[in-house]
Amino acid sequence: MTDKELLALAENAAANSYSPYSHFAVGAALVTTDGKIFTGCNIENASFSLTNCAERTAIFKAVSEGYKSFTAIAVVGGRDGDFSKDCIPCGACLQVMREFCDSDFRIILAEKTYRLEELMPVSFGL
Ligand code: THU
Repeated sequence: MTDKELLALAENAAANSYSPYSHFAVGAALVTTDGKIFTGCNIENASFSLTNCAERTAIFKAVSEGYKSFTAIAVVGGRDGDFSKDCIPCGACLQVMREFCDSDFRIILAEKTYRLEELMPVSFGL
């Protein structure tokens, strides 16, 4: 699967975004080391702090299905269907990636691809 195809899957996932408060739809497509794909979207809540980001939705879906080793995630986010700008994962999502992914885990965004250690050079972990 190419990075472009993963970004397209992330866009499809963003179509399921539940974001009536921010109107900011986010989608993610996560790749396991054996090539399986898990997608996720952001899910907001009237009690704002309960909102779950798209990246964590995808990771939690995968872990709950027994997959704990990942190579890459594609993430798109935007308003009114415009996903052309990079949607950088928030600190909470980076920390969850840090739990399950190596420092060379790839974070594929609309304009640029990063490695996890670039976005989170110093972090807390076991
Ligand atoms: N959001 C994500 O889904 N992922 C991120 O990494 C950043 C933010 C969502 C949360 C909220 O529903 C909306 O984007 C606006 O903050």
